[in-house]
Amino acid sequence: MTHANIVVLTGAGVSAESGIDTFRDAGGLWERHRVEDVATPEAFERDPDLVLRFYDMRREAIQAKQPNAAHFALAKLERAWPGDVLIVTQNIDDLHERAGARRVLHMHGEHLNAWCTACDARPRWTGPLIGRPPCPECGERMLRPDVVWFGEIPYRMDEIFAALREAHMFVSIGTSGAVYPAAGFVRTARDLGAATLELNLEPSQGTLWFDEARHGPATQVVPAWVEEMLAQAGE
Ligand code: OAD
Repeated sequence: MTHANIVVLTGAGVSAESGIDTFRDAGGLWERHRVEDVATPEAFERDPDLVLRFYDMRREAIQAKQPNAAHFALAKLERAWPGDVLIVTQNIDDLHERAGARRVLHMHGEHLNAWCTACDARPRWTGPLIGRPPCPECGERMLRPDVVWFGEIPYRMDEIFAALREAHMFVSIGTSGAVYPAAGFVRTARDLGAATLELNLEPSQGTLWFDEARHGPATQVVPAWVEEMLAQAGE
């Protein structure tokens, strides 16, 4: 196990202590906004200003947030672990990268990218989209947030399943297990023989699928787990 390949799946809980709201906790984003109003292709068709404003506000907010001890610990694991570590995140913030992680797959897209539906360019984007700025590639005013909405297909699925096939360990951090396909990764990893571990504030919806679950805030349980792994690797 000491040189094992590890796939880490993260969700909103890993960024909660950086001050970014989760979706389904009390006071979470989906309590204040209806998914069908702001996070579907139909919503964008119906009321693009509402959707663009929602993502513009969040894009601005995340840029003022900082990575926390859980993000830093995962970046350290990636650097120091003798096997492969892949972080698959459902988060659209860039806090894993800002903590120093290099192998991060954003299966639900990225806040700091726009997507031009005219020419398919995906330019980095830190400002607002509400004013319909032109695409830097083709000049059309058809930019939308490069995020996966409900009813759309998550990104990088082939790479994710390839990594799950090679994984000896699958660790799920800060995700409620409510949204597929990510919620199903634990069963895939398990069926393929990986050890499975959940690190979450409380038992997730899929907690029974894991070999082991440790509950507590990510800034505590993640660094503790990483130190444990690195101590084992050094033995
Ligand atoms: P959720 O809001 O559904 O779940 C967050 C999980 O993090 C919950 O299980 C919390 O108990 C846990 N949590 C909260 N604070 C924590 C902390 N400090 N430390 C550790 N865990 C904590 O968020 P996700 O599971 O990420 O998709 O949601 C999955 C997807 O649903 C999102 O990517 C988004 C959303 O709708 C799209 O927008 C497509």
